[in-house]
Amino acid sequence: MSVTAIIAAAGSGERFGAGIPKALIQLADRTLLEHAVASLAPVVDQLIISAPGGYEQQISELLGEGITVVTGGATRSASVRNALAVATGQYVLVHDAARALASTDLARAVINALKSGESAVVPAVSVVDTIKVVGTGNYVESTLDRASVVSIQTPQGFLTSALREAHSAGGDATDDGALIEANGGKVKIIAGEDRALKITTAADLHTALAFLGFDSTYRSGIGSDAHAFGVGRELWLAGLFWPDQDGVDGHSDGDVAAHAICDALFAATALGDLGSNFGTDHPQYAGASGVQLLQETLVIITTAGYSISNITVQIIANRPKIGTRRAEAIAVISSALGGADVSLSATTTDGLGLTGEGKGIAAIASALVFKR
Ligand code: CTP
Ligand code: MG
Repeated sequence: MSVTAIIAAAGSGERFGAGIPKALIQLADRTLLEHAVASLAPVVDQLIISAPGGYEQQISELLGEGITVVTGGATRSASVRNALAVATGQYVLVHDAARALASTDLARAVINALKSGESAVVPAVSVVDTIKVVGTGNYVESTLDRASVVSIQTPQGFLTSALREAHSAGGDATDDGALIEANGGKVKIIAGEDRALKITTAADLHTALAFLGFDSTYRSGIGSDAHAFGVGRELWLAGLFWPDQDGVDGHSDGDVAAHAICDALFAATALGDLGSNFGTDHPQYAGASGVQLLQETLVIITTAGYSISNITVQIIANRPKIGTRRAEAIAVISSALGGADVSLSATTTDGLGLTGEGKGIAAIASALVFKR
């Protein structure tokens, strides 16, 4: 008895407002979509992702072999239909990428209900608010009995043939159960779970982090560094070697961007600073590269239970020009920090100060971290 899982991930996440599809938003160590895949993969035989147009390749690479990616549609129902067209299982689970934390146990409970003979199974939780039906002119038409209404979740499970039939007229509904109901089918409610909440706004990410055991309080830190240009020195900046550019003085490679980020991370985690962690009391770090210090800093803060939310770093210098190598630098810094979300900008100072006079290079960084 084979089971296919369809993950609807083609929405744009307008209410979240991240500028990227909601399914690709990072929640702790992975994207919402990867969380959803991880919870369903252990209990299904086929996994199909309905992806936002233009993101098929990226999602395919993110998830790796063995997962089918189709292009989503204009509505959730259309996205589900596109995946349903290539489903091979006798049963099908339809899940929202936005319900990233629904557990494997919930998926298992849905499958068990199907195996016991149900043809449509929907997890649900009780509602806390009183629900009213609103009519024309914003006047209440009726008040529902709160005990008789529930809030539905996913994964929802179906006999694949029944779901195909319910979708055959091309209907549109906010969940698949509704299409079965419209088709006269019986939909069984089973107990849902709080952690299957639909992540809709940024505030929901905090709730989701709490389910993952993270402290919902974030801590921020700043760091800065500056070095003067020196003779006969190579330039290392933002994790990259810059040929044909003057290097800066210092015992280390003088990568001010990397040093500022380390200091920002130590500040955010209250674990001291660059000097107290890597200074002269720690001769093993003498001459360490900026990238090595980033890697070491990650180990120190991870050991103390922190994870990075994001890093920003700004380089303040007349030269080198950062723009053309920005992506390369971000990739190196991010990889040294275990794939952290990193952004990099650069500025000059209108001829003022040590950087404006071309005497050296400075950097300022901020770090946002949270604790598990
Ligand atoms: N979805 C989809 N295809 C669409 C619209 C939505 O596959 N055309 C998916 C979303 O990716 C999400 C799930 O359906 O996993 C539930 O939708 P919702 O939470 O509303 O996500 P979005 O539509 O992305 O968000 P918003 O409504 O805020 O734009
Ligand atoms: Mg939507």
